[in-house]
Amino acid sequence: MKQVKQLLLEILLFILIVLIQTQLLAQSSPEEKFLDSLISKMTLQEKIGQLVQWNGSNPEGEKRLRNGGIGSFLNIRNRDEINRLQKIAVEETRLGIPLIIGNDVIHGYHTTFPIPLASAASWNPELVKKAARIAAYEAIENGTHWTFAPMVDIARDPRWGRIAEGFGEDPWLGSMMAKASVEGFQGENLADERSIAACAKHYVAYGAAIAGMDYNTVDISERTLREVYLPPFHAAINAGIATLMSAFNDLNGIPASSNYFTLTQILRHEWGFDGFVVSDYNSIGELVYHRVAADKSQAALEAIRAGVDMDLVGDTITGNVYSPNLERLVNKKEISEEIINESVRRVLRIKYRLGLFQNPYSTNQYSGEETLPDAEKKRIALQLARESIVLLKNENNILPLKKDVKSIVVIGPLANNRDEMLGTWTCEPVINNVVTILEGIRWKVPAGTKVHYVKGCEITGNGRNEIDKAVRVAKDMDVVVLVVGESKSMSGEAASRAELDLPGVQQELVQKIHATGTPVVVVLINGRPLTVNWISENIPGVVEAWFLGDQAGNAVADVLFGDYNPSGKLPVTFPRSVGQIPIYYSHKSTGRPFNPHNKFTTKYIDSPVTPLYPFGYGLSYTKFVYSNVKVNPSQTHLNENIIVSVDITNSGRMEGSEVAQLYLRDRVASVTRPLKELKGFQKTELKPGEIRTIAFTIIPDMLSFYNINMKKIIEPGMFDVMVGGNSEDVISASFELVQ
Ligand code: GLC
Repeated sequence: MKQVKQLLLEILLFILIVLIQTQLLAQSSPEEKFLDSLISKMTLQEKIGQLVQWNGSNPEGEKRLRNGGIGSFLNIRNRDEINRLQKIAVEETRLGIPLIIGNDVIHGYHTTFPIPLASAASWNPELVKKAARIAAYEAIENGTHWTFAPMVDIARDPRWGRIAEGFGEDPWLGSMMAKASVEGFQGENLADERSIAACAKHYVAYGAAIAGMDYNTVDISERTLREVYLPPFHAAINAGIATLMSAFNDLNGIPASSNYFTLTQILRHEWGFDGFVVSDYNSIGELVYHRVAADKSQAALEAIRAGVDMDLVGDTITGNVYSPNLERLVNKKEISEEIINESVRRVLRIKYRLGLFQNPYSTNQYSGEETLPDAEKKRIALQLARESIVLLKNENNILPLKKDVKSIVVIGPLANNRDEMLGTWTCEPVINNVVTILEGIRWKVPAGTKVHYVKGCEITGNGRNEIDKAVRVAKDMDVVVLVVGESKSMSGEAASRAELDLPGVQQELVQKIHATGTPVVVVLINGRPLTVNWISENIPGVVEAWFLGDQAGNAVADVLFGDYNPSGKLPVTFPRSVGQIPIYYSHKSTGRPFNPHNKFTTKYIDSPVTPLYPFGYGLSYTKFVYSNVKVNPSQTHLNENIIVSVDITNSGRMEGSEVAQLYLRDRVASVTRPLKELKGFQKTELKPGEIRTIAFTIIPDMLSFYNINMKKIIEPGMFDVMVGGNSEDVISASFELVQ
């Protein structure tokens, strides 16, 4: 026993020595030496200047910049103007500290890709990474060093307009997409000439806003916070992300922008994040509206203490918070200068890693592989748009349409509109590069096919002046392609909806066109799940096309005419009604699991409990059959990996890609657990008749959860493994985890 204690002591001593050495090493690195030296020369005002981000280029901002009072700008997207301001910072201020220029490059800079919710439907992280890389190339060429993306807020409430900007309802899919985005934006090394800093936002749980109302209160358990909303941020940090953005919402009584528990306890102490945190737009100043700060001075105090490093936005409109308040707080000894130094160090660290001290000026002169041909950008944009499309219904194989069809009419307010294809949060789109749905179809069919167009009605409001004309034309056509949905302004920030039906009189248009008896295919253009029950029940072909960006028309036409076999899967549940919300696949059993034959179970008296379309759902023009699922070993110990294998057969006549999804269930645990959780997916292409065995590896951490004491643990017991092409149609096996 004595030897064991001695051994344990020696091991502990060894670990302690290693930790101290690592810490000392980090502090003595060239990077830290550079930061130590620079910070030691800075005045308090210059330090605070590094914590202020200014909105746009204007005389007041320039004046403050000259005095060393600004460290960053946002919303300037002209390289020459940026270089002009950078010259002032580098050559006309006392210490010449370079600016870092941030912008919202959410789904493309010039080349506009599908909105993030659409890209998530591709379940193709590699492709999402390529798109982010292109965005980074175009951003840096135009002077932007830092993007306020990826937005990784998990969203289970489609009333919330910002669901469009994120990757859907699931932490595993969201984490994979977060990682891919960071790797795309930041490349191999932040200092690479084509890399930009990324920013995971909005930290944290912004998507859990009560009633789906933007900026609304969030009140969730710590377990839900840790198991649902935090994982994509952790994945971004593990991928090396440079920055995070703190959110507008209050979280369990403490605003996210003054929340020490999330901003310091979790972010710094548990996760060891060494980048910096920028506030959201005046979210520090808004602590006064949250009524946790009596004035901006107290707001500055709360935020800097909690761990928000930079104030987005100090400007003449919303008024500054960190400047001048932090200086007063230090002079009154209400906060130590050391706390300012820590934030300054984190901001300067990212500027250092970006190489801004060596190369502060932007250029569009790149050589060799650093240039990216437009054709390659278009190819990636088209492929991502294609893979983002989800086939929701294909009754009697109305799709794909035959190319020798004699006459088509394309109807709908979103059929011939370039701007609307871009979706929310575009950066500097090139509108003439956008292909409308009508153009995509016209370019797809042979010359002999007549393609007519009637708008039919407006997206919103009562404008129905062309419904009769649309009906008349539809009667004489071989097929109708009906393009309906939301305007791009109906999702994104400050765009929550209380109803999720088609807006305006579009439903009337759909029903009148359907009544003509001409075969109809509906293409949905939207930034969130819609309660399209009537369409789902009555229209034989339904395609979810979201907002696909530049290549919208070509991608939709490729799918409609079978040049691309749709492979998209829903990253978010489609409810039947607003009344079902929040509805998501990873729900719990409850003590009275739904039973259609028992009144006293978890259900409604006026609605099914099932969604209109479940998470992970998406059809193909071919058929994939899952069989022969195996788990090896079927009994395993806590620290062993487990291999799950399954056969997938393409039993149809068309080549296609399938997203095989792996779900796990912990049958019995010390706290209630979801009935299933996504823990893996693989997208694989199969030729007609081809059978492929694919394997997933379950590592122990996938079985862990937060117990009653909020400790992340794994418990022995039985686990079910479910594999399939969506979250409902699965085949199962099980294994036992033994102590
Ligand atoms: C906005 C958004 C945030 C964005 C920031 C800068 O209000 O909430 O996502 O990055 O301000 O534009």
